[in-house]
Amino acid sequence: MLDKPTASRSHHKTSQLCAVLLYFMGFEAYASSLSFVNNGYPVKMIATDDLLQTYEVKTLTVNNPTDSTIRSYQGVSLILLLNAVFTSQWKNNDAIKFTALDGYQSIIPSSVIIKHNGIIALGENDQRRFSLLTRSNAETVDPGPFFLVWENIQDVSVRNEHWLSWPWQMTTIELTSFKREYPHSTPPSASTETVKKGFLAFRQHCIKCHTINGDGGNIGPELNYPVSITEYWQSKWLSRFITDPQSVRANSKMITFNRDIENREQLVADIIEYLKAMAKRKPLPVSQ
Ligand code: HEC
Repeated sequence: MLDKPTASRSHHKTSQLCAVLLYFMGFEAYASSLSFVNNGYPVKMIATDDLLQTYEVKTLTVNNPTDSTIRSYQGVSLILLLNAVFTSQWKNNDAIKFTALDGYQSIIPSSVIIKHNGIIALGENDQRRFSLLTRSNAETVDPGPFFLVWENIQDVSVRNEHWLSWPWQMTTIELTSFKREYPHSTPPSASTETVKKGFLAFRQHCIKCHTINGDGGNIGPELNYPVSITEYWQSKWLSRFITDPQSVRANSKMITFNRDIENREQLVADIIEYLKAMAKRKPLPVSQ
């Protein structure tokens, strides 16, 4: 054999590779690659085949939160991949952003990622494709080519960890920071611990739908400028509304703040302190 030296050099890799290839052979494949970005700078793109050939493929059986079915996915450990692409320095960034084909973005704190076992799934039931997921509105989605899933059967804490989203149809993994993602809603660094905790809780539970100084989602209204919500709502009503919107406004479109969460009342109080602190941090009015 002409390529014998090479073959023996990478022998242990080769046997691992054969197993992986056999595993996935003969099934239709998604032709795609996953991009890795470091704070705005593209670092690497890895094609599905290269992912399968380079990294150990694991199976994770999970309770899929979209439709509460037990499913068995094959993929590569997220932490292993982050270490391989960015070295362990990735942990110096406080957040990781996952972007999907349709532009949906989810941000997960690095500190939460480190604590749990997630894989970038490339297939299901030992095949290189996924079965469809049915959403609560009866819409179906194919989560491929890349679907981030979390071990949530043995690690029950995952189910109550609201930061852990399961982004599907993923295209990009980016190292970032909350400060960079939400530059206008971060409270002053000299803020009290309560305000900082409130900010954390706000990012976790509210920023998907509300903006603060323009940072965040647009399903609900901006809460800080020109006039902060804390300047025209009394704290006790604010607290009641956040805790149970329909108890204040019959047809409110806002969801009730998670009833199962620990120290719920304290978190709502912290969020209000954060909102009060931000009332002193508004964007400057446009000069005439
Ligand atoms: C799923 C989207 C969603 C989430 C999550 C959400 N809200 Fe809302 N919120 C809304 C919508 C929509 C409204 C619009 C008013 C209504 O329907 O009552 C609203 C209204 C409000 C209002 C009243 C604004 C006004 O002047 O009428 C406050 C205050 C508020 N939200 C705070 C919060 C806080 C704090 C959180 C996090 C604990 C939060 N919201 C989470 C969607 C959301």
